[in-house]
Amino acid sequence: MLYTKVAGIGHYVPEEVVTNNDLAEVMETSDEWIQERTGIRERRYGIKHEETTTTMGVRAAEIAIERAGIQKEDVDFIIFATLSPDYYFPGCGVLLQRELGITKTEVGALDIRNQCSGFIYGLSIADQFVKTGMYKNVLLVGAEMHSMGLDFSTRGRNVTVIFGDGAGAVVLQPTEEENRGILTTHLHSDGTYAEKLAFINPGAHGGYHHKKMGNEVDYGYKDAKYGEMFLTQTMMDEAHIYPNMEGQFVFKLAVQKFPEVIQEALDKTGLTKEDIDMFVPHQANLRISQFVQKRLGLRDDQVWNNIQKYGNTTAASIPIALCEAFEAGKVNKGDLVCLAAFGSGFTWGSALIRW
Ligand code: COA
Repeated sequence: MLYTKVAGIGHYVPEEVVTNNDLAEVMETSDEWIQERTGIRERRYGIKHEETTTTMGVRAAEIAIERAGIQKEDVDFIIFATLSPDYYFPGCGVLLQRELGITKTEVGALDIRNQCSGFIYGLSIADQFVKTGMYKNVLLVGAEMHSMGLDFSTRGRNVTVIFGDGAGAVVLQPTEEENRGILTTHLHSDGTYAEKLAFINPGAHGGYHHKKMGNEVDYGYKDAKYGEMFLTQTMMDEAHIYPNMEGQFVFKLAVQKFPEVIQEALDKTGLTKEDIDMFVPHQANLRISQFVQKRLGLRDDQVWNNIQKYGNTTAASIPIALCEAFEAGKVNKGDLVCLAAFGSGFTWGSALIRW
């Protein structure tokens, strides 16, 4: 029987620190408002024209590969989770393969688009491939360059102040050691509220979903005939090309789904809240993490939060936080690590790992 272990982990955050006060210079917001509602003090932004979602993923991947004690060419499957890809297509997986210099073609590259739960989805996919013996070194990367696609006017402040750039990566390998590695993963989705947290345009929807739900938006389609609907002038003129979020709606569901999906993982494995050594939640909002921590009855030193420094880095948030906890000596062999995420889709999930 094979299990999937985390053989190596790495993370990378760009150097440029952007404080709440920096943002207050370009939009109507304040350090006080942002800290009070989200816990965020600052975030990192990649260097424009030099860094991308892929290149940050590469930096994190190189560390994970080195720590796993393998060579780049040993990687036999790449999973790349992001909502801010370099290109609409092809995905970041193949770009990362090229940047890493992996020239062999006996490697699969898969991009997944599950936003904040992307890393947990990736972990679950990797686990299926590894424990069935299909792959021996799966490289899973979560990376985001949000700063390229946010609205920096006051109109976009509810979304923009929350997000930051960065990347995290793990190398997953098989082990025969009983009760080691990924013990369980749980994935969920509910598309009912897809537009409550979404980046809709540009896109191939042609207004279909809005019409169906009775909330049509004028995207300037009326004169469009062939192929002019993906990105219209109206979308650009009226700023329909940024992420939107109904914050309170997302918040209420998140605080419900986090505890539910964690309990599901505990029930499946016959473990209890008391067995958790380290809880690494997706960094959506410090208030959400604190709420879940309380529900689990965990001490502050059993939860890793870094949203204060990096904001929400979406698919990168869990691997960055997990890597920091590991580097700080807070995750050791035999520890039970609990991961959980909730985000756009909505999709959510959890994982229990015996380190
Ligand atoms: N600075 C100052 N004021 C802001 C602001 C900002 N950055 N963003 C919004 N506001 C204003 C709003 O315009 C609104 O003003 P009004 O009362 O005059 O209309 C007021 O603050 C309250 O807005 P609201 O959206 O109700 O705030 P909130 O208390 O819900 O906090 C979030 C907003 C986004 C911090 C919070 O809802 C949240 O964290 N939700 C979950 C988001 C999340 O987890 N997203 C990622 C999922 S993975």
